[in-house]
Amino acid sequence: MRTVKRPTRPLGQPTRGKTAPNRLRKTDVFLALAYPEFIRHLPGVYVDLGYGAYPITSVETLARLSRLKPDLQVVGVEIDPERVAAALPDARQGLTFRLGGFNLPLAPGERAAVVRAFNVLRQYAEAEVAAALAALDAGMAPDGLLIEGTSSPTGQLMTFNLYQKTPEGLTSRGLVLAPGLRQDFAPRQLQTVLPKNYIHHAAPDGPIDAFFAAWARAWSSARAHGNDLRQVFTAAARRLRADGFALDTRPALLRRGFLWLSPSWPQRASQ
Ligand SMILES: C[S@@+](CC[C@H](N)C(=O)[O-])C[C@H]1O[C@@H](n2cnc3c(N)ncnc32)[C@H](O)[C@@H]1O
Repeated sequence: MRTVKRPTRPLGQPTRGKTAPNRLRKTDVFLALAYPEFIRHLPGVYVDLGYGAYPITSVETLARLSRLKPDLQVVGVEIDPERVAAALPDARQGLTFRLGGFNLPLAPGERAAVVRAFNVLRQYAEAEVAAALAALDAGMAPDGLLIEGTSSPTGQLMTFNLYQKTPEGLTSRGLVLAPGLRQDFAPRQLQTVLPKNYIHHAAPDGPIDAFFAAWARAWSSARAHGNDLRQVFTAAARRLRADGFALDTRPALLRRGFLWLSPSWPQRASQ
């Protein structure tokens, strides 16, 4: 068994523990579609930071991503000691639970290849975000990915920042907007679940508002011509691309409802 050196004090504070089965399913689908080789050869553990009142998201991610990497190690990290104690009966091969915070409780030599911090930073002040990211960066493996985002209670609406660890530190790889396509939605609904660094910057007539106005127009025009939401989503995304917003137009991503916007967002890359 590995000894885990406890940091002096976990960085952060306990917050509401709300979670739900399948809430974060799309983060697993996204990684499997966008980074399959990275997941197959993961250079470290997968940290599910702030898994909440019960560890269902950690259990599900182990089951899903171990199809790509059978020896996947998922580490559920919680800052609330009672939630760690409550999760221990769910520990199993490939899944452990530890008390900790943004300064990750890793064993000597251990590194996080993926950190998912979902519905965690939304409960902090925006001014605390930079320190949280810097602390996470310190525990990550080279090329490691950080998925930091927010969702609706069921996960039907989801947005996340994607960062990658580079020699310069955590570098943005863009923002992903991911509505479930099994039911109709309005693009403006995604605006309500933007990550912490954007949610307070969506003033009317600003660039974020202009993007959502453009997406809403593209969506209703595509929706007028079809009922298959996968096709509508793809057509609207292509329209946005033609409007100058840089995004990933790979059909495999668009058909699963992933609008992966470049780090230049919300600015247009070209007019
Ligand atoms: C709303 S729950 C999110 C649960 C799950 N990630 C989800 O999205 O369904 C947020 C959890 O993050 C935990 N948390 C808050 N700050 C933390 C930190 N700095 N480190 C670890 N856990 C933290 C809280 O104690 C809470 O249980």
